[in-house]
Amino acid sequence: MSAEQPLAGGPGPGGAASDPGLGRVIVTPEQLAERITALGRQITTDYAGRAPLLVGVLKGAFMFMSDLARAIDLPVEFDFMAVSSYGTATKTSGVVRIVKDLDLDLTGRDVILVEDIVHSGLTLSYLRKNLRARDPASLEVCALLLREGLQKHDPGLRYVGFRIPPDFVIGYGLDVAERYRNLPFVCVYGGPDSSVP
Ligand code: IMP
Ligand code: MG
Repeated sequence: MSAEQPLAGGPGPGGAASDPGLGRVIVTPEQLAERITALGRQITTDYAGRAPLLVGVLKGAFMFMSDLARAIDLPVEFDFMAVSSYGTATKTSGVVRIVKDLDLDLTGRDVILVEDIVHSGLTLSYLRKNLRARDPASLEVCALLLREGLQKHDPGLRYVGFRIPPDFVIGYGLDVAERYRNLPFVCVYGGPDSSVP
């Protein structure tokens, strides 16, 4: 993309230039591409000779999962689950409800859970317990972002894209009340209810 081209949601009515919700950029499109390529290579090496099943957590992980999968040179398979956590637009309660369950059987599979972001780790800990109970051969987690500061335990992530400061972030799949998912970068959210939980 050339520097002259506007970013998605760019200048114009309701676009990036006029949106106070868009704060400081934390991860640029170039940094995303480079890091995700490296994660894909690492997974390709670690799972050589196997066909891992990527389990994406909707909706936040959809963009990351799509780019990550293209960086993995193995016969991967896909499934998705959707969870909803109770709380306000920018604060998780840790109580998770499965809104859409997986279609595939995990028994004996090498599962890689693909998450957009880990903050307290409560959502992840719930999902891990839930998936482990389905008897996969292995279960690892690949999270694009680890928001530092709130984890009470080591979240035990095998693959992490970026460790970022505790600010609430948006873009590249991440939303506030369903907005901003299509930004091609990750930035701090500067709108209302943006205080750190
Ligand atoms: P946790 O349970 O506190 O680790 O929060 C994990 C979930 O909360 C993620 O899967 C996201 O859906 C959401 N979340 C946490 N932090 C952010 C953020 O900075 N931006 C957007 N969503 C977030
Ligand atoms: Mg999520």
